[in-house]
Amino acid sequence: MTEQSTIRNSLWENFFKKQSEEDSSVEHLLSSVPIFSQLAPKEILKVSSIIHHRNYRAGEYVFAQGDPGLGMYVIISGEIRIIYSDGTGGVKELACLKDGDFFGELSLLDESPRSASAVAETESKVMGFFRPDLLDLLSRSPKAGTKILFKLGEIIGTRLRLTDEQLGKLSAELERNHNK
Ligand code: CMP
Repeated sequence: MTEQSTIRNSLWENFFKKQSEEDSSVEHLLSSVPIFSQLAPKEILKVSSIIHHRNYRAGEYVFAQGDPGLGMYVIISGEIRIIYSDGTGGVKELACLKDGDFFGELSLLDESPRSASAVAETESKVMGFFRPDLLDLLSRSPKAGTKILFKLGEIIGTRLRLTDEQLGKLSAELERNHNK
């Protein structure tokens, strides 16, 4: 074990000793969420102090498509379905997310209306990370805030490439069918 990793591990041990079992698992979970994965233990502690805990019953909406976006959520336990409605009665499930997954990250950047609905499939516990708190973190801890924004940009870029790929395949298939 290197000296640096020893220092890092003892830091984790130290603050876990001061926290309850539930708090320490929240920090573990936060550090495993991609947008927080570059943060040092001290920075994770800062994030854990600004998150909001929310509980939902099965069938309850975390938010509805078109709602003003306030921030993102990380699932502690339970299942959340992401549902898109085309406005003419057509409904499509985009994803069913579980422990450690996150959603609603798009509105962290621009407060745009929610692009889909998020509904609890089972009783669920989530942590909310909201835009005003991110802006506050950016001014108080620019290094931590910048790390979060970089990861957010990376994730959105990856998803955009994936969506482009799927769209390309779909339009090629449509064209082939049209020319038959
Ligand atoms: P946001 O637009 O803030 O609110 C709806 C959320 O659904 C969105 O952010 C994403 O986090 C999530 N979302 C949108 N499209 C998909 C998808 N194809 N797969 C998984 N999650 C998605």
